[in-house]
Amino acid sequence: MSVLAKIAVIPGDGIGTEVVNQGVRVLECAGRLCGFTYTLKWFPFGAEHYLKTGEIFPVAAFDEIRTMDAILLGAIGDPRIETGLLERGVVGKLRWDLDLYVNLRPVVLYAPQLTPLKNKGPEDINFIIVRENTEDSYLGLGGFVKKGTPDEVAILESIYTRKGVERIIRYAYELCRKRNQKKKLTLCDKANAIPVHDLWRRVFREVGREYPDITQDMAYVDATAMWMVKNPEWFDVIVTTNMFGDILSDLGAMLQGGMGICASGNIHPGKVSMFEPIHGSAPKYAGKNSASPIAAILSVSMMLHYLSEKLGPPYAAGGDLVERSVAELFASGRIQDPSASSGINTDAIGDLVLEKMTAGRPASAGTPA
Ligand code: IPM
Ligand code: MN
Repeated sequence: MSVLAKIAVIPGDGIGTEVVNQGVRVLECAGRLCGFTYTLKWFPFGAEHYLKTGEIFPVAAFDEIRTMDAILLGAIGDPRIETGLLERGVVGKLRWDLDLYVNLRPVVLYAPQLTPLKNKGPEDINFIIVRENTEDSYLGLGGFVKKGTPDEVAILESIYTRKGVERIIRYAYELCRKRNQKKKLTLCDKANAIPVHDLWRRVFREVGREYPDITQDMAYVDATAMWMVKNPEWFDVIVTTNMFGDILSDLGAMLQGGMGICASGNIHPGKVSMFEPIHGSAPKYAGKNSASPIAAILSVSMMLHYLSEKLGPPYAAGGDLVERSVAELFASGRIQDPSASSGINTDAIGDLVLEKMTAGRPASAGTPA
């Protein structure tokens, strides 16, 4: 096979290493069964590396990663280090400096017992949040005046550019068409209190003229939070700002069984893109082999689907196989609980996924495409 995906792996902090190790085992198995190839290069960035060397993300490593196809990241964050320093210096840097403007966060219920919602099942909870990933309050434009005094002022600007808003909205319309499900796109904003969100509404309607097959829907963020719990079946694709997408995706995580299940893709179509669980480094579970690796494993599945667009169908077959295997483990009740208290170790969950992947293959599989 001549096609080789170049993948950077950044396990990061806390449970990051444990969950990424399982993700990499699953990747290896998918490659073998579906006939795709890849190279892995590991990067040590995160708290330990910073404490040892003072480096957050050296330029040479960043420039190398830029030339690769995808990045698999575990988690970044450590209580020993100033809040946000590494989060912004590693995760933020990848998102901003690689211009990964789409943050895709699927909300999918794999089995009825996983959701805390009454009377809602897998047919009701199946949507995707398209979070803008490069603008809004995250850019850090602002600062303090008279810091530490009773007269202190803290100012933060929310930035929305016409180009930034248009490209994410267009991506969401395209995705909605491609999903071909309810064909409904919900714009989530707060235009009733934040007048500049009118930019989002205007662009939403304008771009929407090119997508007459997609139903346009607009909802304020507070109401969206309420409806996600009350009527999750109303949603198909939600497009929203960076900050609202961050908050709503944790809510979405709980609808589908918890943080241990949720994967995400930080994407710039056609360019190197980054895949990571939406959970954090969970220091209290670090080193205990108890965290769920499912979010990291499903991040591998998302990464493979992304790679298939550029590198061909065997990667998509791998992505499907991984996701289907995880779905079956939940549906059959073999994994009841995707949290650190599931009673199944991190690596034992990895074993179960590998077993399912291997068992689920038809006899003819295993021949490289
Ligand atoms: C996420 C995380 C990050 C964010 C943090 C680690 C900066 O919460 O990916 O959702 O806020 O985007
Ligand atoms: Mn978050």
